This record gives sequence, structure tokens and C-alpha cells, in this order.
Amino acid sequence: MNLKGRDFLTLCDYTKEEIEYLLDLSARLKALKKSGKIWQPLVGKNVALIFEKTSTRTRCAFEVAANDLGMSAVYLDSSGSQIGKKESIEDTAKVLTTMFDGIEYRGFGQERVQQIADGAFVPVWNGLTNEFHPTQLLADMLTIKEKLGDLQGKKIVYFGDARYNMGNSWMVASAKMGMNFTACAAGDKYFPEEELAGKCKEWAKDSGGSINFSTDIECAKDADVIYTDVWVSMGEPYEKWEERINDMMPYQVNAELMKKAAPHAIFMHCLPSFHDLNTTIARDLHERFGITELEVSDEVFRSPQSVVFEEAENRMHTIKAVMAATLGVDPDM
Ligand code: CP
Ligand code: NVA
Repeated sequence: MNLKGRDFLTLCDYTKEEIEYLLDLSARLKALKKSGKIWQPLVGKNVALIFEKTSTRTRCAFEVAANDLGMSAVYLDSSGSQIGKKESIEDTAKVLTTMFDGIEYRGFGQERVQQIADGAFVPVWNGLTNEFHPTQLLADMLTIKEKLGDLQGKKIVYFGDARYNMGNSWMVASAKMGMNFTACAAGDKYFPEEELAGKCKEWAKDSGGSINFSTDIECAKDADVIYTDVWVSMGEPYEKWEERINDMMPYQVNAELMKKAAPHAIFMHCLPSFHDLNTTIARDLHERFGITELEVSDEVFRSPQSVVFEEAENRMHTIKAVMAATLGVDPDM
């Protein structure tokens, strides 16, 4: 498998075999790190990390992974650089490509990360756009493999806002890897766009997976994985909360809902999550709407079925695999 020089913008661009390779490489890199061995094949290389939206996990994962591989990472955000205000993404990409060996971008529309990739001669990695969050999906799939074994045939039920980066990415990953994906939400406005859903249904025919949409929470029956994400994403207007709370409260992942899934089911969430009142946004929503937990109950979030912090750790191992593979190194090569 040779992924050297490839961009990593969406899983749509990757085959099942390539994704399997990245997951296998992630597991090997994780084992290597746990064994305490140092593997720094990329000493002397530098990566740029552009964040037009905030981040804890993705930024830390890229920085730690780059350091582990021997590279230096430079962080740029819109407040501390010229991006957006004084310099276009296109010009920025041309500048960065002269200095760096790889570029990560987190921001708004997918067309922006595509624009960076079009202007760059080095691999470009999507650290989250409105449409896709492909590095998160690698971490999620690695976690499922660790907890439940093979991906093939697993039933994934995604509750809440399925039309944004996480819902889209889960639909694509399921279609590519042969999983049975159901998005469960209050109607069409929260389901992925038809064009992408159509492509995924075609891919699912080849992989043996399936793509389904439901408004009925009973679709959680026998699920292997129950997944949810925040109801209002970064970059969306704060005013959206009221409508989303009204539409999505019936789809909250709570103990009653988890009981419908298979007994071995795991709960997953990309994080950050509003499951208690320990954030300023959750406290504000509590004051305005009287609710104490949003997309997931605190009970489920903290339950033994919840693997959210394992997912978070796996962000680093999988991002390391993406950088290693696209920069052309593998510890077993
Ligand atoms: N899951 C995720 O992408 O988290 P951050 O926004 O903290 O990077
Ligand atoms: N849908 C969320 C994902 C965060 C990792 C957002 O875009 O804010």
C-alpha cells in the first residue's frame, strides 16, 4: 500500500483497502508507542496546522503525533495569522507549501480544504470542515475494532444532527467499510444530502453495508454502536439552539434508549459533549430552557458502555497514521 503524497480530505476518496491499511497502521503505531519505543522517521520535516475553528483533540493529536514522528508542528489560527482577513486561502497555501511538508486545515466549507490541496504540492489533511471529519472516523473505527472486533456488518445508529460533518462522515465510512448505518432524527432536514446518500448507497452495494434513515428511535434495536454529536456545531448561529432542542430532545441518547441496543453495545461521541452543566454554553442553555443535559445524558456518558475517552486517545494514533502514510513511512517497511 503506497499512500505517499496523497491528500486526506474525505473518506470518499479512499478505498476500503486503503482505509483498512490506515487502521492497521494506527494499531501498529499505537502498540509501538505503548511499548515505549521511539520511532522518528520524519526528523527534519515540518507541518503546518491551520485552525479557523477551535479544537482540543484534533490540534493536540496533530501536534503530539508530529512530535512523536520527529517533526515540528506550527499552529496558525485566524486571529494570529493573515488567513482570511488579509490573505486568501489560495495564497496562504502557496506560501505554506514552500516551507512545510504537510498541511492540516480545520475550518468551514469543504471547498476551502480542497482549495488548499489544489494549491499545495504537499499532502493536505482535513482536520474538520462543515461537511466532513475524516480523521475522527478513523479514530472511531479503530475504537470499534478494539472493542467489538471487525467493522463488517456492525449496526451503527447515529442520533441527532446527521446532516453535518459527523453524520456525513459516518455514512461514508459505513458505506466504504460494510457497516449498516442508520441516521435517526426528526425528519429530512437532519439527514445527509441526497446526492451524498446516493453515492454511499452505491458504495454500500459493493461493501455489503447499508444506509438507512429513520425518525423512530426503535431503530436502535440490536445496534452495536450508538453514536451522537452536538446539536449545534461550530460555526452555526447560536440562535439555532432553541429549534434544535425542540427537534432533537426525543433523540437524546439516554439510559432508556441504550436499553434498546444490543447488550454489548457501546456509546460513542466525537466530543466535546454537553452532558452536564460544567460548560458555559450548557449553563446558559440551562438558564434559558431548564435542561441539564443535551445530546447524551450524563448517566450514559459516564457509563461503562461509553468509550468516548478511548476514541479521544485514538485521535492521536490515527492522525499519526495519516501523516506517516501520506509522508511515505511505515515502521514495518
Ligand atoms: N472531536 C474533535 O474534533 O474534537 P476537537 O474539536 O476538540 O478537535
Ligand atoms: N459537529 C461538531 C463536531 C465537533 C468535533 C462540530 O462541527 O462542531
